[in-house]
Formats: sequence, structure tokens, C-alpha cells
Amino acid sequence: MKKIGLFFGSTSDNTKIASDYIKDYLEAHDFEVDIHDIGDIGSEKILEYDKILIGCPTWNIGELQSDWDAVFLDYEKLNFKGKTAAFFGCGDQTGYPDNFLDAIGILAEPFIKNGGTLIGRCSKDPYDFRESLALDGDELLGLGLDYDNDDEDACEDLMIAWLDEIMDDLK
Ligand SMILES: Cc1cc2nc3c(=O)[nH]c(=O)nc-3n(C[C@H](O)[C@H](O)[C@H](O)COP(=O)(O)O)c2cc1C
Repeated sequence: MKKIGLFFGSTSDNTKIASDYIKDYLEAHDFEVDIHDIGDIGSEKILEYDKILIGCPTWNIGELQSDWDAVFLDYEKLNFKGKTAAFFGCGDQTGYPDNFLDAIGILAEPFIKNGGTLIGRCSKDPYDFRESLALDGDELLGLGLDYDNDDEDACEDLMIAWLDEIMDDLK
């Protein structure tokens, strides 16, 4: 099995908590996961992996979390041919219903455009919001986690269902 590279940015720690949970869950299922805070490394590091998980919360009304924002101009130029990635992110559907999870869309778009294979789309049905750059038809381009309105158990249940779904494609 190939090593998975998990890259996250997090300002108030929710995406870090989710990233740690995802790593532990995958390692309990015999995967090897390297976890990287994107604020500590450059985006080039992503290309060292063929199987990639990307976690980014949305901040400042429809913007990337600041560490992802700092690397975005390099990130959007990367060649993702041969790479498989799943995206997840934290957001607040009640507080920001017109920009819910935008960061997932902002990061997923250049990944797809530059040749990557995106896995881990999710139904929008469990959420209540108006607009999102992560929306593609009736699906979100990744897993949304709303720690502001849902309790931690509910977020863990969403992560488990999502990971069980994408696990075969991460092998
Ligand atoms: C000033 C501010 C702006 C935010 N903007 C958005 C937004 O546009 N869309 C959204 O879905 N969530 C937004 N959020 C909610 C955060 O994404 C949410 O709290 C998330 O869990 C933070 O993740 P982190 O702890 O990993 O940084 C915002 C929160 C704050 C405080």
C-alpha cells in the first residue's frame, strides 16, 4: 500500500482535530499516513505522494485559511497528473450560508484542472446552506465538517462514512 500524504491548514484547530482523527482512523485500517501542516512546508511537498488528502477550512467570508492562502499561487501551478486526492474542510453553514466550505472548491478546482483525479465527493443533503464554491451539481467536491454547529461525534460519524467510502481508492 502506498503512503498517504495528508496536508492541512488550521487557524482555530478544528481542521487539525479532524486531520488527526482521519490519520488515526486510516492507520487503524493499515494505511500509513504522513501528516503535514501546510504552514510548515511548501506546496511542492504534495507531489511526493500519489495518494493525497487535503484539509482546508474557509475563513474571512469565502477565503482559504491563511496558510493555504500563502501557498496558493504555487499550489495552483502544480502538475497533478497521476495523483488521487480527496478534500475535506471545516466551515459554518449557519454563520456563512453563502460561502459554506468555499475553500474546498478553491483548492479542488486547480487540482482537477491540472490533471488530478478527485475522489470523495459528498451529497449536499445533510447540510443547510445557500451557496458554496465546493458545490458541483448536487454534490460537494469534498467532505464538509461543521464543528461550529455539530458536535464532535457527528463530525466523526461523517468522517468514518466518508473514509469507508474512499478507502479502496486510497490503496
Ligand atoms: C471571521 C470568520 C470567517 C469565516 N468565514 C467562513 C466562510 O466564509 N465559510 C464557512 O463555511 N465558514 C467560515 N468560517 C467558519 C470556520 O471555517 C470554522 O469555524 C472552522 O471550523 C475553522 O476551522 P479551523 O479551526 O481549522 O481554522 C469563518 C469563521 C470566522 C471566525
